[in-house]
Amino acid sequence: MNQDIRNIVILTGAGISAESGLATFRGPDGLWEGHRVEDVCTPEALARDPVLVHRFYDERRAKLAEVHPNAAHQALAALDAAWPGELLIVTQNVDDLHERAGAKRLIHMHGELKSALCAACGKAKPWADPLPPACSCDSCGRPALRPDIVFFGEMPYEMDAIDAALRDADLFVSIGTSGAVYPAAGFVQTARHVGARTLELNLDPSAGSFYFEESRLGPASLLVPALVEELLA
Ligand code: APR
Repeated sequence: MNQDIRNIVILTGAGISAESGLATFRGPDGLWEGHRVEDVCTPEALARDPVLVHRFYDERRAKLAEVHPNAAHQALAALDAAWPGELLIVTQNVDDLHERAGAKRLIHMHGELKSALCAACGKAKPWADPLPPACSCDSCGRPALRPDIVFFGEMPYEMDAIDAALRDADLFVSIGTSGAVYPAAGFVQTARHVGARTLELNLDPSAGSFYFEESRLGPASLLVPALVEELLA
């Protein structure tokens, strides 16, 4: 596997945190079964019912205290520490399990539960507690702090850096994502376009499985450590 591979981009989704005890979005028991996206994950929802939106993210932020990184997060952190070439982990997840496992080369493209964003001045700051609606920003003073989450209809973070890494990639790996949400679902196509190898690790075939050169089906806690072992062999 590692012959001729120098630059790696890894995309992760909710499936990598499932075995840590965090719910995925789609499917039975998924977060979007219990909540409508348009009620809790759009700028319009925040304007219409800030109490409901804040409660949804407060509950998810509190849940982080009960969970731990699993073998898949740990294996990716070990790869990050040991890989001599370029490596970028791009996560759609808003949990903090990659960084708690020790990953450093990491982008949270959909934001972070443990961050609050001022909708007025754009400044983000670490946030661990419940976030009351209309909380004041300590930079600009306006009552505009919101969860630092990229809502549907908003632009994901660091797209230029992600695109640059994809264009230099020799290997693109997608882990634990259903491939239902763009732009992340399209990363495999960029990677293929530049000639990178493409590999999917997922419990079930995803919406975009056919784009990948190779799909391995199973739990991330088994598949990811095995892949990391192959790459570091
Ligand atoms: N190991 C590997 N894959 C798993 C596991 C596991 N233990 N458990 C579940 N999966 C897979 C499922 O088969 C599914 O394909 O993880 C995927 C999770 O898909 P989604 O729930 O759609 O999550 P994700 O792809 O991260 O969602 C993308 O949608 O709602 C938005 O912003 C939200 O970032 C999220 C985005």
